Amino acid sequence: MRPLRPLLLATALLLATAASCDSTPETKVDGPFRDSKRPVAERVADLLARMSLDEKIGQMTQAERGSISPEEVTEFRVGSILSGGGSVPTPNNRGGWVAMVDAYQKAALATPLGIPFIYGSDAVHGHNNVTGATIFPHNIGLGATRDPQLAEAIGAATATEVAETGVHWTFAPCVCVARDDRWGRTYESFSEDPAIVASMSSVIKGLQSQQVMATAKHYLGDGGTTGGKDQGNTELSIEELRRLHLPPYEAAIKHNVASVMVSFSSWNGTKVHGSEFLITKLLKEELKFGGFVVSDWNGVDQIDGAPGLSASDVRTAINAGVDMVMAPAVWREFIQVLKAEVEAGRVPMSRIDDANRRILAKKFEFGLFERTKTNRNTAAFGSAPHRALARQAVAKSQVLLKNSGVLPLKAGTGRIFVAGKNADNVGNQSGGWTLTWQGSPGEVPGGTSILKGIREVAGSGATITYAQDGSGLDKSYDVAVVVIGEKPYAEFEGDRMEGTGLDGEDKAVLEKVRALGVPTVVVVVSGRPLEIGSHLDGWNAALAAWLPGTEGAGVADVLFGRQVPSGKLPMTWPADGGHPANAGDGKAALFPLGFGLTY
Ligand code: GLC
Repeated sequence: MRPLRPLLLATALLLATAASCDSTPETKVDGPFRDSKRPVAERVADLLARMSLDEKIGQMTQAERGSISPEEVTEFRVGSILSGGGSVPTPNNRGGWVAMVDAYQKAALATPLGIPFIYGSDAVHGHNNVTGATIFPHNIGLGATRDPQLAEAIGAATATEVAETGVHWTFAPCVCVARDDRWGRTYESFSEDPAIVASMSSVIKGLQSQQVMATAKHYLGDGGTTGGKDQGNTELSIEELRRLHLPPYEAAIKHNVASVMVSFSSWNGTKVHGSEFLITKLLKEELKFGGFVVSDWNGVDQIDGAPGLSASDVRTAINAGVDMVMAPAVWREFIQVLKAEVEAGRVPMSRIDDANRRILAKKFEFGLFERTKTNRNTAAFGSAPHRALARQAVAKSQVLLKNSGVLPLKAGTGRIFVAGKNADNVGNQSGGWTLTWQGSPGEVPGGTSILKGIREVAGSGATITYAQDGSGLDKSYDVAVVVIGEKPYAEFEGDRMEGTGLDGEDKAVLEKVRALGVPTVVVVVSGRPLEIGSHLDGWNAALAAWLPGTEGAGVADVLFGRQVPSGKLPMTWPADGGHPANAGDGKAALFPLGFGLTY
């Protein structure tokens, strides 16, 4: 977990100072930039001409909510604030978020130019930081649907929930192309195939249709590092880098994505955060990306290889083409260092102005100068229609790997035994980036576990017995449904360089069931293909459920045939010990990319 100041203190500060931001500025500057009928380029030019260097650097600065008060937003002209994963107001509900964001906005507007700030949060599978939000399947499951229209609808629904909390910008979608499943962020990838990822970038259209800025991330090659090491080194020729990792960004730019986030990783030994070729020459000039480039969390600090933010880090990143720096707790140092670099002539004013034009253009395009307070009159947050959409997405994401005929189960009759650590655990089925950065086992308010879904779909005529460890199972049962897989993780915490084998708890429950000879349906709840090759023969059926989120009943819909399985593998499923495995690499896989059975 990232070290953040005690959130309670920060929140108390926030609420205490919010009241003191009622003061209106001495003079509210007026001018053409305020006229929403004028072309954006005109408004940008007029506003830019009125801005001081301090105000321009403020627009390029992003602080974390736990490290900045509204008063500091006003004083330092800070243009953006984010919530890191799990960094939330108290109460962590819609009202708490609206109060927080509106208080910061009031402070941002309490300056002569009154430039609105933008609040960013990782809504990567629904508005996952906020209690009660609809949590959709993670990208790997959506990739299995091969349904760009569904992705677009999920984007729109997610953005509605994001906007209802006052947030303007989500750091999503990840358009990474995961090439080694040992990578801890594989579940954030729609596929190993860049064309599939490019097609699913339609989620951007959905997000931005609701006036929420989207972010294509992490540019470039985050999913291609050697060995799947998070923030590692992508060792590829420029031709291979373009072939495997660039198509999703070309698609995102076609969707007019507002921002691109830079990857922590390196390309052939050079940190992408410092690569003028990748950020300016390739992304901005060749691909004609017109939005703004934001760094990742303290990603700028890593450029020179020494800990902390140095002048070299800052000038290298800004001169490479980074427009806004995510400097969660070091935003003051960033402002001081960048100002000194500009005054020393080591960062040209033309670069500062280009960054500001890009940022301000998006603030104008997304109506932030006109929409300065959150609309509190809608009620889509965690709503039944959104949960129904999520349940449909869960069902469509299921990939049937094996079926001896035991599936579909018959509703309303029979004796079904349910076991496994992921059968009745919405936290596990939601995965990382759920209420906290890493996610965690246990309850997710408003969620439906797979077991609860089975009980609902099986109906009263069936007997459903559950024991996580399988105790109590005997030959009187018609079938055992064993739900295994992974516990939540995010980023480097999820790297599994040793491979993706089953854990001891799963092996134990599978052995118990196998010994009894009851027909067995195994459901794998995981962020990536797991090494199941040596177990598969003992299973009558196997279903890849990925990380379904709060609507676990979608899994039951497929188990009982309410929805016929239609999912196709978004990743090659490696043979045991066979990482990495990708289509066309000539390696023997357990199941190929695109595999999926039906009834
Ligand atoms: C993290 C992630 C990035 C996320 C950002 C803000 O380190 O790499 O995906 O958007 O920080 O939470």
